[in-house]
Amino acid sequence: MELAITKSDNLKPKPNDADLGFGSIFTDHMFNMDYSLEKGWHNPRIEPYGDIALDPATMVLHYGQSIFEGLKAFRTESGNIQSFRPQENFKRLNSSARALCIPEVDENFVLDALKELISLEKDWVPGTTGTSLYIRPTIIATDPFLGVRASHTYRYFVILSPVGAYYAEGFNPVKIWVTREHVRAVRGGIGCFKTAGNYAASLFAGEKAHALGYTQVLWLDGVEQEYIEEVGSMNIFFVIDDELITPMLSGSILSGITRNSVMQMAGSWGIKITERKISINEVMDAHASGKLQEVFGSGTAAVISPVGELKYGDKIINVGDGKVGPLANRLFTEITDIQYGRSEGPEGWIVPIA
Ligand code: COI
Repeated sequence: MELAITKSDNLKPKPNDADLGFGSIFTDHMFNMDYSLEKGWHNPRIEPYGDIALDPATMVLHYGQSIFEGLKAFRTESGNIQSFRPQENFKRLNSSARALCIPEVDENFVLDALKELISLEKDWVPGTTGTSLYIRPTIIATDPFLGVRASHTYRYFVILSPVGAYYAEGFNPVKIWVTREHVRAVRGGIGCFKTAGNYAASLFAGEKAHALGYTQVLWLDGVEQEYIEEVGSMNIFFVIDDELITPMLSGSILSGITRNSVMQMAGSWGIKITERKISINEVMDAHASGKLQEVFGSGTAAVISPVGELKYGDKIINVGDGKVGPLANRLFTEITDIQYGRSEGPEGWIVPIA
């Protein structure tokens, strides 16, 4: 497929690195590609960033047939632009596509198209440590039709956003509310895929968490409301008695690429890692007996995010005296060193872009 490029003649001013938050500023161009039953994926094009006109009956607006990814590009000290494990994101995009009856994309083609897009937008990639270019590939169902079925047409698009830290806390510990009242997903559903609907399902409890003074929700399993799943914007890890424990991928938890990177890195350092069911009561008990050393989350947007406080019912526990734990700190340093080109990661993790 030939990639068409139309450049914008109305370039926007670029923000200062120091002012960057998360996800509110977008670059000058975007990538678009369409799907129809007759043509398959076709008309790949880079064009000026702009609105997508949709018929009010468009299926994604009614039934939420939408999937997305989140990955980042980084500027190294020598000025090169590189991405962190992007192949994994496109693999996961296709696994989400299969789950929502969306046609798969050619992973090599969309990676090459992404490189073209970022090369065109390379001046938008911020250079300060802690900043990056967040990349949001998305697929939406575009049939104008109100019957419930999979759409026959789709739009794949990629937008780019220069970002700083995801949480206002930066790398300082966040406070998390553990809820038994709400569940995010159940096994056999779509919780393990990156679908818009999972995030819609998380909003009500998220608002409650904010009202209580907490940053995010820690979700428990949808059946017994006992076993820890994930935070929604990140996977979760516990250090108990020098062992690194994370909930196993039960079918309702997102298979995070940073989660996988954490396990590979910690494993290579000789740390004992276990993926298993872990209940909230086990975590509370570990805290009571002084064995809960660290809690932290992992995610593309969140990187490594230490958790300083957990509220579960009437119980509030403080982890690590409000300080960043040594393992979270080491993981954050080593992962960001690889991302910013200060050290070499395992083979294939870094993909040069421009
Ligand atoms: C990410 O970490 O990239 C995510 O997708 C989480 C959130 C910003 C939706």
